[in-house]
Amino acid sequence: MKDRFYVTTPIYYVNDVPHLGTAYTTVAADAFARQRALRGMATRFLTGTDEHGLKIDRSAKERGQSPQAFVDEISGAFRSAWPKLRCQPSDFIRTTEPRHKKFVQELWSKCAANGDIYQGEHEGWYCVSCEQFYPEKDLAEGKTCPTHKKPVEWMKETGYFFRLSKYQDRLLALYEQRPEFVQPEGRRNEVVTFVKEGLKDLSISRTTFQWGVPVPGDDKHVMYVWFDALTNYLSAVKDSEHAAFWPPNLQLVGKDIVRFHAIYWPAFLMSAGYGDDLLPRTVFAHGFLTINGQKMGKSLRNTVEPVRLAEYFGADELRYFLLREIALGQDGDFSHKKLISRIRSDLAATLGNLLNRTLPFVVKHFDTTVPSPDASFDGEREAHLRKRFAELVDEAKTAWDHFEPHRALECAIALAIEGNGYFDARAPWVLAKSPERKAELGAVIYNVLEVLRACTVLLWPALPDKCDALRAQLGLAALLPIAGVDKWPSEWGGMAPGAKLNPGGPLFRNITKDDEAKILADFGVTDGETKVTDATTAKAAEKPNAHANPAATPAAAAAPAPVSADGVAIIGIDDFTKVELKLGEVKSAERVPKSDKLLKLQIDIGEAAGPRQILAGIGLAYKPEDLVGKKLVIIANLAPRKMMGHESQGMVLACGPSESLSIVTIEKDIPVGTRVK
Ligand code: MSP
Repeated sequence: MKDRFYVTTPIYYVNDVPHLGTAYTTVAADAFARQRALRGMATRFLTGTDEHGLKIDRSAKERGQSPQAFVDEISGAFRSAWPKLRCQPSDFIRTTEPRHKKFVQELWSKCAANGDIYQGEHEGWYCVSCEQFYPEKDLAEGKTCPTHKKPVEWMKETGYFFRLSKYQDRLLALYEQRPEFVQPEGRRNEVVTFVKEGLKDLSISRTTFQWGVPVPGDDKHVMYVWFDALTNYLSAVKDSEHAAFWPPNLQLVGKDIVRFHAIYWPAFLMSAGYGDDLLPRTVFAHGFLTINGQKMGKSLRNTVEPVRLAEYFGADELRYFLLREIALGQDGDFSHKKLISRIRSDLAATLGNLLNRTLPFVVKHFDTTVPSPDASFDGEREAHLRKRFAELVDEAKTAWDHFEPHRALECAIALAIEGNGYFDARAPWVLAKSPERKAELGAVIYNVLEVLRACTVLLWPALPDKCDALRAQLGLAALLPIAGVDKWPSEWGGMAPGAKLNPGGPLFRNITKDDEAKILADFGVTDGETKVTDATTAKAAEKPNAHANPAATPAAAAAPAPVSADGVAIIGIDDFTKVELKLGEVKSAERVPKSDKLLKLQIDIGEAAGPRQILAGIGLAYKPEDLVGKKLVIIANLAPRKMMGHESQGMVLACGPSESLSIVTIEKDIPVGTRVK
C-alpha cells in the first residue's frame, strides 16, 4: 500500500547484548520509519528478539540459568536499550511469546498441508553460532565455520524437511520480475547465483534439544530456529489490527543473513500460499561495522557500547554519525575520532553555527520575532538559495526512497552550508549598520530562518530531539507526524512573519582539542586505536554510567555519582573483603562436552577435602593439558551453581577477549590456599 510503510529489523539473538552492530540496524529502521511518517504514511516499525535454538539453550546452560530466565533477562536488555537511542519501535516481538508460537505452528501446518514438509534423514557439518549446516567444501581450515571460524559439529538428524528445491524457479522469477526485492544489487547477484547453483531441501526440525516451538502433531521435534524466527515478521501483524501493514516495505538485515531472508523466507511464504504481491517488497542488506578498522570482537565492543556512547555524546549525535558516515549497503568503520569530527564539522560548525549567528540579529533588530520577507531585495543570491533549497529537499527525499540515508543527510547539511554561504555573502552585520536597510536585513534573516526550518525536517529522522529543540528556538512546534499529512518541506516560505522566536543556548557542544583528548582517554582510545579492555558481559548493557552527554545535560557530566570514571560501582573495603580470593593450582582439566568455552578444572586450594571442581569459560584460549600445574586465582566463596549439568564450586579469574583470555596468576612462589588481598 502506498500510504503505509512497514519496516523490520532482524530479531536479535539473546546470546549477546545490544552492540553497535545491532544498534546500527535498529537506528536505521527507526530513521526510515520516522522519515516515512513525516511524509504522511502510517508506519510500523518492528524489532524483537530471537530466543529459541541450540545456541541459546547452550548459552543459558553455560550461565547456569534456565533458558526462560536467561532469555527474559537478555530480551529485557534489548527492549530497554533502544529507547535510549531514541528508537521507537511500534512493537517488540519475542519468539517465546504465545502469539508468535501459535502463528508459526499455523504457518508450518499450511506448508505441510501443501505437501512441502516431509520426513527424512540428514547429517552434516553444523555451526551452532550460525544455526546452519555447511557443505564440507564451504568449511574453513580445520573444519571450522567460514563465518565464525569455530569448529563445526557433525550432526545427524531424523526429522522434517522443507521442499526448498521446489521453489527454485519461482524464486528466480521473483528476482527477475522484482529486482528491488533484494538490494543492493551486489547482494541480489549473490542470491541469484546461489539459487541458480541449485537449492537443496532444508532440514527444519530438531530432536536433540527441546528449546524451540514444537512441531504440530509431533512434539518430539522442535522447529528449526530459522523457520521459527523468520515468521516473526508476519506473526507480529497478521492476527492483529495491524494486518493491513503486510507485506513489509523494507526488511533491513545484515549481509550475513541475506540468504535466509531472500531465499528461505519467501519460499516459506510461497509454500504457505502467499502470492507474489504478498511477499516483502524489499530485503535490504547493510554492511558490517568495524572499530578502528578492526573486526568488532566482544572485547573491542566495550568502548563502543551504544548506550554508553549515546549517554556521552548524545543519542542524536550517535544516530547522525551512523546514518551519515556509512553508506547503508557498504561496510563502515566506527571510531571515536570520526564521531567527534562529524559532530564538530556537520552539526556544531555548520548547522549549530547557522542558528547561533542568525538569532542575535532577530533579538537585536526584530524584537525576537520572524522578520518579513521582501521580494524587492531578491537578487542572484536569493535565486540561487531557493534553487538549491528546492533541489536539496527533493534529492533528500529521493535518497530516502532509494535507501540512502547517508545521501539524504548529506543533502540536509549541504542546505545548511548554502545557508552559511548566503549569510556570509549578504553580510547582515553590514546591513545592520544602516538603519535604512532594516527591511533588507529582515529579508536576509528571513531567508536564513527558512533554511533552518527546512533543515529541522530533513534532519529529524536522524536527530529527532535536536531538530525539535532547534524548532523550539525558531518558535515552531515539535514535529509530530500525522498519517495523511505530508510534512516534508516543499514550498519556500513556511516561517510566519511576526511569530515569536525563543533563542536558547547552542544546540551542539563545541568539542575542543583538549576535550577530545579527555574523551579519547575516557574511552581508552590512544592514537586512533581502540584499546582492548575486558570482555563484555551480558550485564554490561545495564551498567550505570557516569558519562552523560555534556552538551545535552551539562550538570549530569559533572554530577557526583557512586560510580567510577568507567561507569563501575564504587564499593567500600568491606564489600571487597567479602570476596574470598585464593591461590590455587590446577590438578586436572578437561573440556565440557558440547561447549566451546567451558573447561572443568580440579583446583587445589589447600583444603583437607581435596581439590575443588570449578568450571571456567576459558576453553577458547586454553587447552586443558596446558593448564595442569598452573597456579591461578579463584573466588572461593561463591555459591556453588550448575553449568551444563556440572557443579562449579567457585570461579577462576581471567581477563581479555574470549579467544585470548589470560588467567590471573602470581609472580612469586606462594603456597596454594593463600588468600589474595
Ligand atoms: N537472530 C538472527 C536473525 C533472525 S531474523 C529472523 C541473527 N541475530 S544476530 O543477533 O546474530 O544478528 C542480528 C543482526 O546484527 C544481523 O543482521 C547481523 O548482520 C547484525 N550484525 C552483527 N554484527 C554486526 C556488525 N559488526 N556490523 C553490522 N551489523 C552486524 O542473526
